[in-house]
Amino acid sequence: MRRFPVAGKCGATNGGEVKGNILTIVVRWGAGLALCAGLATIALAQDDAASEIAALNEQAAKLDPEDYRFVQPVCTRCHTPSMFLHSRTWSEWQGVFNQMNGYGAVAAPQQWDHIYKYFQHSLTLIDVNHADEDELSSVLGIDERTAIAIVQRRADRKFDSAADLESVPGVNKGLIEPLKPRLLFDHPL
Ligand code: HEC
Repeated sequence: MRRFPVAGKCGATNGGEVKGNILTIVVRWGAGLALCAGLATIALAQDDAASEIAALNEQAAKLDPEDYRFVQPVCTRCHTPSMFLHSRTWSEWQGVFNQMNGYGAVAAPQQWDHIYKYFQHSLTLIDVNHADEDELSSVLGIDERTAIAIVQRRADRKFDSAADLESVPGVNKGLIEPLKPRLLFDHPL
């Protein structure tokens, strides 16, 4: 945490040269005190902001610690994780990445792969009845065969719930459980 160096010197600033009449001294002393109080408030606010950012990073890392190692240096350079800790559809995320790229977000192709994975696994909403195979497999974390099985089954009958989705062979119940808030069934996007 970087503090304003001046904040630590409060009190010392008025100890020096006692020149002029008593009024000047009082005025100077008063102004010095006000300045000290102001700087102390800034230092405190910085501490608050730093701990809030640390808490947000912790929350973001919990979703997928391995990939967040790549997200954090790239995506928290200009703003805090609060900007991106909300689920969106994959096409919306792609729009965000393009936008951030335009603002100057830089990452090596390999880093981008981890960043994509992080958002797909943790913060992407999926329309189970319309998403294509690639999106199903990356967002749900299933293999291609299982994704094909989902597409075939919904051609006959659309899915209406997480339980319904779990009836597809290869769809792991334990895997689907944490994804439930991000599964969309009746709202074509
Ligand atoms: C070079 C600076 C910079 C970097 C790096 C950066 N962003 Fe941003 N981001 C911005 C700015 C500036 C805004 C505000 C834009 C606005 O208000 O329209 C923003 C806004 C956002 C928003 C909100 C967009 C909206 O329209 O709701 C999201 C989500 C976001 N960033 C995600 C990310 C992600 C994910 C990364 C890492 C891949 C990232 N940002 C990296 C500068 C950056």
